[in-house]
Amino acid sequence: MDNLQPVMAYVNTAFVPFDDAKVHIEDRGFQFADGVYEVVACFGGAFLDLKPHLQRLQRSCEAINVPLPKPLPELEALVQEAYDLNPFSDAMVYLQVTRGVAPRSHLVSYNLTPTLVITVRDLPLPSKEKIKAGLKGITLQDIRWKHCEIKSIALLASVMGKQEAGRRGVDEAFWLDEVGHVLEGCATNILAIIDGALVTHPLDHQVLGGITRDMAIAVAKEAGIKVEEREWKLDEAGLTEILMSSTTNAVMPICEMNGKPVGDGLPGEVGQKIRTLMITKIDGLRPNPSL
Ligand SMILES: Cc1ncc(COP(=O)(O)O)c(C=O)c1O
Repeated sequence: MDNLQPVMAYVNTAFVPFDDAKVHIEDRGFQFADGVYEVVACFGGAFLDLKPHLQRLQRSCEAINVPLPKPLPELEALVQEAYDLNPFSDAMVYLQVTRGVAPRSHLVSYNLTPTLVITVRDLPLPSKEKIKAGLKGITLQDIRWKHCEIKSIALLASVMGKQEAGRRGVDEAFWLDEVGHVLEGCATNILAIIDGALVTHPLDHQVLGGITRDMAIAVAKEAGIKVEEREWKLDEAGLTEILMSSTTNAVMPICEMNGKPVGDGLPGEVGQKIRTLMITKIDGLRPNPSL
């Protein structure tokens, strides 16, 4: 698809033209950010880890006590249909679920019909220059809530962090806990290479369990790279590389943090190996690798 504008979106019960896709002003997503979401990538028409993404959506819904709007197989079929109606070569599919529409009140009855919106956008891949030169990051004190394991649509802190990153001319801002452990980015997980091992914060309430983080860990293990899920700090001895992971980036090297080079300031060997293995798996999904 050459035109990069989405054509159709799913809203509650049906696909509608994208420009007519609307939800009510009393939708609790709009009023309270009372909802959760998911982003899945599709490469050349093949989804990467669709099931794990939908299972995470189910966990997010359960965590906030919102019924999953449809059973997982139906959601899967809708995601496929959404893509078929907006067949970008590489696409990202957003699913957003809110508690539904009700007169504005914090307290709400639990039998609302949840709102489901599915949109598809063109997936911009990282540029060759950025892959070669690496990205820049900054760290900020974590100002988010204490349930970061839920993929909540309440993203104000992340938006503010990303704005600050933009203002300072870098690609991503990463959150630190009160004692300086590196948690995750505004929309990414963060991993370090320390003494040759892939190190990343353990899964708890301070980080989202990234599907791409799982993939990075899996390919690292397959390649014989030691993996440690533990707390870590930027000034740890033996830290040579930093990577960030997300559905839209696979893993990308972070070569500068807070204005200082990471390691020798170039993408490192271990990170490049992990990225290459991941991209090979992604390319292997494409029914037509020339896409
Ligand atoms: C806060 C946060 N952490 C991590 C991630 C990466 O998750 P995934 O790899 O599933 O895209 C995201 C993605 O949006 C995110 O928002």
